[in-house]
Amino acid sequence: MATSPSASERAPVYDFDYVADPAILADVHQGYWQLKQNAPSVFWTPRNGGHWVVTTADAGIEVLRHPDRFSSRFLSIPPDPNQQKMIPESLDPPEHRAYRQLLRPFFESKAIEPLEPRIEQWAEEIIGAVAAKGECEFVEELGSRFPISVFMELFGFPLDQFDLFRSTVVEFFKVGTDQTQRMQLGGRIVGILAGLYAERRAEPRDDLISTLVHIDFEGRKLRDDELISIGFLMFLAGLDTVVNALAFGMRHLAHDQALRTRLIDDPDSAPAIVEELMRRYTFVSVPRYVAQDTEIGGVTMRAGDSVLVPLAVVGWDEKLTECPAEVRLDRPHCRHAAFGSGVHTCLGIHLARLEMIKFYQVWARRIGHFREVEGVPLRFRGGSVQALEALHLAWDARN
Ligand code: HEM
Repeated sequence: MATSPSASERAPVYDFDYVADPAILADVHQGYWQLKQNAPSVFWTPRNGGHWVVTTADAGIEVLRHPDRFSSRFLSIPPDPNQQKMIPESLDPPEHRAYRQLLRPFFESKAIEPLEPRIEQWAEEIIGAVAAKGECEFVEELGSRFPISVFMELFGFPLDQFDLFRSTVVEFFKVGTDQTQRMQLGGRIVGILAGLYAERRAEPRDDLISTLVHIDFEGRKLRDDELISIGFLMFLAGLDTVVNALAFGMRHLAHDQALRTRLIDDPDSAPAIVEELMRRYTFVSVPRYVAQDTEIGGVTMRAGDSVLVPLAVVGWDEKLTECPAEVRLDRPHCRHAAFGSGVHTCLGIHLARLEMIKFYQVWARRIGHFREVEGVPLRFRGGSVQALEALHLAWDARN
C-alpha cells in the first residue's frame, strides 16, 4: 500500500503556478518557454495543492502513454472528486475503450469531411460580418462565434439559443469565475443537455444528440448520466479549444508577414500552417493522477500525487524539432502533442483541423493582410486550457 511521502521526499522543488504564474499571465507561451529552459525535467511545485510537472517530451509522452500508472480519473489539479465526469476523457482503460469506440465513427475523417461546405459557410458569414469594419476584437466577434456555431449545428443544439450557449461557455472559462460560479454554470450546462436529450428522445432529428439517445451501446441504451457526461465533455472540448487555437494563431500571423503572404497566395498551405501553429502555440496542459507508486525521470512519484503535462514541451523539444521557437513550413515532419497522445488523443482532431483550415482560408481571401492593434494590452488565461482572451486586429477594409 502506498504511504504518504513527506514533503522532503518530493524533490526537486521548483515554484510554478500553472493557473496564475505571473510569467504565464504575461504571455502564456513565453511563460512556458521559460519553464522549459529553467526548470528541472521533472519537478514538484507546492502551488495548487502541490503537484509534479514534467518539462521534457520524453517524460510527457511516458505519462500520456501509461494510463495504468497515470490515471485520468481526476482531470483537475488539485483533484476535485465533485467534478462533473467527462466520458470518455475521465475514464481509464479498459472502461474507456468501449465509449471511445462508440463515439469514434462520428468524429473520424469520413464523417467530418462532408461538413466542409457548411463549415466554410459559417466562416464566410462570421468573417463577412466584420470585413467592412476594418477592425475587430477577434475573440469576442469571431474566434468564439465560429466554433460554437459549427458545434451547435453538428450536435443539434437549437441555434436560436446561441447567445445563452455562448455566454455560458465564455463565463465558464473566464478569468475571475470562481469555483462556486463554475459549479453553477456546470449545472446550467447539465440542465441544457438534459432538456435536449429529453426532446430528442421524444422527437428524433438528424443530429448527434438524437443519435446518442437512440444508439445501441453493448446491447442497451445509454443512461442519462452517461449521456450528460458525454455531452458535457463535447461542450467544453469543442468550444474552448478551437477559439484559443485561432486566437494564438491569428496573433502570430498578425506579426509574420511572410507567413500571411503565403496563406493569401497559396490557400493550400493552410493545413501545414495550422499544424505548425498548433505545434508552436500548443495551449493544453493535461493533469494526471498517479495510480501507483512509480518512477519517472529519476524521480519517485507516489500513488495519489498529481502530475501536469504541458503538451507544448513535446513540440518544443530540440531532439524532435530543429529550432523549435521558429514557425517554419519546410520541416520534414511537424511533431507535436497539441491534441494529446495515447488513448485519449483528441477525438475532435479532424473537426478542429477542418474548422481552422477553413477559417484561415476564408480570412485570407476576405481580409488579406492584417495587424495587431498596438497599445491594447493582451489578456492571457492560465490553467489546463490556456487562452488569449482578447486580441484586437485591424486591416484595410476593401470598400
Ligand atoms: C484546436 C482544438 C482542440 C485541441 C487543441 C484539443 C485538444 C485535446 C487534447 C489535448 C485532448 C487529450 C486530453 C487528455 O489526454 O486528457 C483532447 C481530448 C478530447 N477532445 Fe479535443 N481538442 C480540440 C478540439 C476538439 C473538438 C472540436 C472536439 C469535439 C467536438 C474535441 C473532443 C475531444 C474529446 C471527446 C476528447 C476525449 C478523448 C478521449 O478521452 O478518448 N476536441 N482534446
